[in-house]
Amino acid sequence: MAGPQSDALVIFGVTGDLAYKKIFPALQSMARHGDLTMPVIGSGRHDLPLDQLRDHARQSLTEHGGVDEDAFAILSRQLRYAAVDATKPETFANLKEALGGARHPLYYLAIPPSAFEATVTGLGQSGLANGARVVVEKPFGHDLKSAQELNRTLRGVFPEDAIFRLDHYLGKEPVQNLVYFRYANSFLEPIWNRNYIDNVQITMAEAFGVEGRGAFYEEAGAIRDVVQNHLLQVTALLAMDPPLGGDHEALRDEKSQVFKAIRPLTPTHVVRGQFAGYRDEAGVAPDSRVETFAAVRLHIDNWRWSGVPFYIRAGKNLPVTATEVLVELKSPPANVFHDPHDAHPNYFRFQLSPHVVVALGARTKRPGEQMRGEAGELVAQHYPADELEPYERLLGDAMRGDMTLFTREDTIENAWRIVDPVLDQPTPLYQYDPQTWGPSEADTLIAGDGGWHTPTLPPTPPMKTQAAAQQQAPAAG
Ligand code: BG6
Repeated sequence: MAGPQSDALVIFGVTGDLAYKKIFPALQSMARHGDLTMPVIGSGRHDLPLDQLRDHARQSLTEHGGVDEDAFAILSRQLRYAAVDATKPETFANLKEALGGARHPLYYLAIPPSAFEATVTGLGQSGLANGARVVVEKPFGHDLKSAQELNRTLRGVFPEDAIFRLDHYLGKEPVQNLVYFRYANSFLEPIWNRNYIDNVQITMAEAFGVEGRGAFYEEAGAIRDVVQNHLLQVTALLAMDPPLGGDHEALRDEKSQVFKAIRPLTPTHVVRGQFAGYRDEAGVAPDSRVETFAAVRLHIDNWRWSGVPFYIRAGKNLPVTATEVLVELKSPPANVFHDPHDAHPNYFRFQLSPHVVVALGARTKRPGEQMRGEAGELVAQHYPADELEPYERLLGDAMRGDMTLFTREDTIENAWRIVDPVLDQPTPLYQYDPQTWGPSEADTLIAGDGGWHTPTLPPTPPMKTQAAAQQQAPAAG
């Protein structure tokens, strides 16, 4: 933990998409939990009466989770507005005035990347960066070179321990759960390596398309949008060594080691796809070669993982919306029962959305004369994920100065180093039909490791198996 609690929150881009969809709901939730005790200063380029900002906040909440009148009243009381046009340095005086006596503001850059530099420079030149922290959202740069430039800009104004590079995946409860499960149990560590694990797969499937964000997506594509950040972060949490000590650098140090060990991608380890109809979306070029689907095979060149492929598959317009990790164990050394289904019998399954699931796949004997088995799962935990949580958690952490769940400069740059060789380069782009699992070439990529695992969708209504598992657990002590 570093430094004092932030005493004001400034949201640059307060009328933008991110604030509308994620930040206002998080602020209302903070208010509900008694954590919104500081002024919240919205900022945009143009004048905006405070009443209009309040109406805007209410509208955002109506559309994203509903208005909690008591919490909204707290949020409304804390709201201020300051018009700042970063291209006009004199307008930072408006912010200074709105900050009043605040000494340790947290600046949230919920603005397009093209506006980062001027805003950060303006904060520095107006003296408002002293004692402050800054949160920067993804996309953090466009490639390695631009990420390095952005880091240089930020580091020219803020010290590294005041820069919070936000990847909302790291604030997700099920992602936290992964880390907890790995290090709160003793049975896992002995087998969590190349001797027992055959391959690891992460699927992030979205059943929807680009939802009006065509222009943004044209600049991104699946690799930049979710592989370089969310899914490489999950990979690092799965693959890292145990963090040493409780300090917030401990986890970041271990993740950083993994990022260093991941081999840069080569075209042979990447399959890109584009769903049919993408080019008709608003803001999309009629001859766009941007991928809406990517499948990659990663190699981690370290002692623990050498030779174990890590597969990532992510796409829009796939058959379901679900994110799931499957860690497949090696087969038993002999097929004692000559059961044709005994290949790859064991696995760990972590569903990150739509539910939180932690399960172990195992085979058991089917009743009867024959030594024939069936696949089953020991489900340790299963409950619906709460999508609002990540931003509330991460904002609270940033205000306390806790950097554990934020991405460090070296890690961001290493993540770009991994994907850089396959960005913007003419690797083949295969078309796939909406609501399918992407191009068949993606199946070929993983064919040698038994094929892709399809995320298991939760039954409706959702099961509550955690309580059942607890009831069956032997009493401690
Ligand atoms: C964002 C991407 O970072 O993550 C989106 O830009 C994607 O394209 C989203 O849909 C997924 O996050 P979540 O938390 O909604 O699963």
